[in-house]
Amino acid sequence: MRSAIEAACRELITDRAPTSRLREAMLYSVEAGGKRLRPYLYLLHRQAFGELTLPDYRLAASLELIHTYSLVHDDLPAMDDDELRRGKPTNHKVFGEALAILAGDALLNTALEEIFDISRHHPEYLEAGYIIAKAAGASGMIYGQVLDMEAKADDLAGLRQIADHKTGALISAAIDAAAAVSQLEHRDRLIFKQIARDLGFVFQVRDDILDVDSSAEVLGKSIGKDADQAKVTAVTLLGLDDAKKLEDYLIEQIKASLKQVQTVDIEAIAAYYDTLYGRKK
Ligand code: IPE
Ligand code: IPE
Ligand code: MG
Ligand code: MG
Ligand code: MG
Repeated sequence: MRSAIEAACRELITDRAPTSRLREAMLYSVEAGGKRLRPYLYLLHRQAFGELTLPDYRLAASLELIHTYSLVHDDLPAMDDDELRRGKPTNHKVFGEALAILAGDALLNTALEEIFDISRHHPEYLEAGYIIAKAAGASGMIYGQVLDMEAKADDLAGLRQIADHKTGALISAAIDAAAAVSQLEHRDRLIFKQIARDLGFVFQVRDDILDVDSSAEVLGKSIGKDADQAKVTAVTLLGLDDAKKLEDYLIEQIKASLKQVQTVDIEAIAAYYDTLYGRKK
């Protein structure tokens, strides 16, 4: 699936961006690597909820382009001011700030063009497109980035609010988009919404832990920056030990929720979630 996702990402960009520095900058960050979590979550759940069809790979790739755009902008000097991403110099270090901003914009737009294109040919994808666009927007991921920047939270609820938006929104959208296309039974869809919310939070808690408990070589991004930049993270708020306890608690919650699912074979899903818990990068 990984190579299918990556081929679709490349095709989306080369189909829509003419040969130019812009295209190079877009491809640079997408092809630098990455876990491909969001597209994989979409495809995995879509497969479990129904049956994969051709547009699914392009929808999955759209999620990865939106995520990659968010990373390119997240790394800008005006935001987290990072120099290393996916094991390579950040986009603005290579292409300059102006082109990095535009490449991020273009990745987002390309994804939305693609989602419209899929939906006009296959109306059953329309709701999924709306779910993804909303999650990426002013009440979702972008709002979360603003909360992260403001760093006002001083309790667990505040921490969760930041993480649910900046990270959870797109992860949840990947899973709920799969449920929408597959017309998943209502009760199970609600259970997967709860699971996705916890999965997004535990994913960000681990990201916060890795910022103090890993190395740039392993992670492919700089470490120790959250405290330097006075971010509110699971570790800066709770300390490393309690951050790990929170992680364990969330994992138990997800496992308990999975047991409530009635109409889906959860085996492959549970096995993949297991690979995310306590991940090292
Ligand atoms: C990094 O996301 C930013 C967060 C939301 C925590 P990933 O950890 O999924 O980054 P890649 O895609 O593997 O590079
Ligand atoms: C990034 O969160 C969230 C988004 C890009 C939307 P972080 O700032 O913690 O991600 P890293 O640690 O730079 O990957
Ligand atoms: Mg950030
Ligand atoms: Mg960052
Ligand atoms: Mg981080």
